[in-house]
Amino acid sequence: MILETLETLVIPVIPVIPVIPAILVTPVILVTLVTLVTLVIPVIPATPMIQTNQTTLTIQTIRVILTSLMNLATLIPAIPMTRAIPAIRATQTVAVIVPTQNLQILTAHLMTVLLTTDFKTTENPPATGDFFCRKKLKFVIALTKLRLICPASGSALDSQLVLPHQKAYIRREGIMYDAPKLNLTKSMAEFEHGKTCTPGGVLGIRRPYNFVEGEYPIYFDHGKGGRITDIDGNEYLDYLCAYGPIIIGHREEEIDNAAIDQMRNKGFCFSLTQPIQNQLAVKLKNLIKCAEMTVFVKTGSDATTLATRVARGYTGRNKIMRCGYHGWHDWCVEVKGGVPAKLYEDVYEFHYNHLEQLEDLMKQHGDQTAAIIVTPIGHPLAEQVEYPKPGFLEGVRALADKYGAVLIFDEIRSGFRVHIGGAQTLFGVTPDLSTFGKAMANGYPIGACVGKAQFMKKIEKEVFISSTFFPNSLEFVAALKTIEMLERDKVLDVIKAKGEWFNAELGKVLAKHKVSTGASPVPQMPFVTFNKDESKTYKAKRVDFYTQLIRRKVFLQPYHHGYICYRHTDEDLKYTLKAIDESLSFVDEKKY
Ligand SMILES: Cc1ncc(COP(=O)(O)O)c(C=O)c1O
Repeated sequence: MILETLETLVIPVIPVIPVIPAILVTPVILVTLVTLVTLVIPVIPATPMIQTNQTTLTIQTIRVILTSLMNLATLIPAIPMTRAIPAIRATQTVAVIVPTQNLQILTAHLMTVLLTTDFKTTENPPATGDFFCRKKLKFVIALTKLRLICPASGSALDSQLVLPHQKAYIRREGIMYDAPKLNLTKSMAEFEHGKTCTPGGVLGIRRPYNFVEGEYPIYFDHGKGGRITDIDGNEYLDYLCAYGPIIIGHREEEIDNAAIDQMRNKGFCFSLTQPIQNQLAVKLKNLIKCAEMTVFVKTGSDATTLATRVARGYTGRNKIMRCGYHGWHDWCVEVKGGVPAKLYEDVYEFHYNHLEQLEDLMKQHGDQTAAIIVTPIGHPLAEQVEYPKPGFLEGVRALADKYGAVLIFDEIRSGFRVHIGGAQTLFGVTPDLSTFGKAMANGYPIGACVGKAQFMKKIEKEVFISSTFFPNSLEFVAALKTIEMLERDKVLDVIKAKGEWFNAELGKVLAKHKVSTGASPVPQMPFVTFNKDESKTYKAKRVDFYTQLIRRKVFLQPYHHGYICYRHTDEDLKYTLKAIDESLSFVDEKKY
């Protein structure tokens, strides 16, 4: 769909538009056109409003409009139409997304363009003999300024018909990159409705202020593979992947069929546990170094909370050293409303890759510390993703050992994404306990607290855990099938290779632009961040960049890294690079 849209942006208009001499213009047409000029032009706003509905014009319609314009122009001596007409005839590339469905208004806009475009003067004369092309560019640029056309996706910049010096001219004009706003009418209406029945309409990180308000959709309708479609029918490349669970793609038939089979033939919600739980636990044991034993839960927050409880139960100590987001439960939630201070006063935070901060904390509280919990890859909100510095994870491991604390790796994001055995296998540092979730079942709700038997056995008696739905088996089936596919199709190797290619190309794209940006070093988790500047314009630049990106149907979050999934194609990645390139050009050229 996206590619189809792209193609409509570059429509070769074969120069067969008939030039109708003035003498052939009938009195009826004359009257109509003159009326149109006198009645409609005065009410055209200086900057036309962007309508909610877009029309993709057919070549036929363009011909009709241009023909009528040419007819009209022959009547207005102010326009040197003898030049303008061949200029239009020479137009071979016309972008045709227009922000209105009303052809009369469109025609009026086009006439305004003609009337206000000075075809005689050219500040940047292109090569000699390129007269018509120069007019064409002027004309296209004028239309673009009025947002009547959108050469978003760089149709003109990529077109071989446009010569390098002309491309430079287009770039200098700085008008080629402002893509039209999306139609989000249904999302907005549904959001208003949602606010009447759900506090805030939608929850937490899915709220519009976490994206760009008014520019991003709020409700999705469906997804397939690496794409998602909102309720207004806009289709996007999905690089947020549901904040991590989608590792293969949306609606994976093999996985869904396995779950449906379980649902239809066995059932999944019982007072007792089905043996498939053991199969999955054994699978994890074979894949993950520390996973001698496993307890399955339903979310990442369940898993991290259980891991800290096991550590407290095992050591008889209270304090926790933490680094990263670990979920919404009382001991670690970022927003403290509704949480008594005593529930988190024993929890201390240190920054990823700052071993010295943890050393200081352990010097003060080491003998009372039950656990150090850390994400093995750093991914703080709105900041760049980080790999561990040499010695960081080893240093954390050594501090836990030195003070007798339990080391927990929170692998909710890194698990089943950066390596089938988790980041602990990738980096060769083994924790005592570890948590998994998200990508483990390609979207089915599952979490796992795994660990060495000596710690996990605390759950036999002293440490209690239970929930009605924890043993539900649909997600066990989905997880086993997902893992089977990950291994069989070497999914994680494929994602890594795609991500490495993407990152290398992204580096080149970012380097081309004036605006100062950063990129995630982790190939599976792409992220473009904006470096802080003294004038504090980076925030506005970030908003503009992500606005341009979503308008080009690339769904990424401005404050959270993205993910590459198995179903993202090479073409998807190439398109995304192009969209990033254009969006950065927009930022480059805008004055802040
Ligand atoms: C590293 C990490 N830990 C824990 C959690 C909590 O997981 P959940 O949202 O499934 O409760 C998240 C969620 O984003 C996470 O990224």
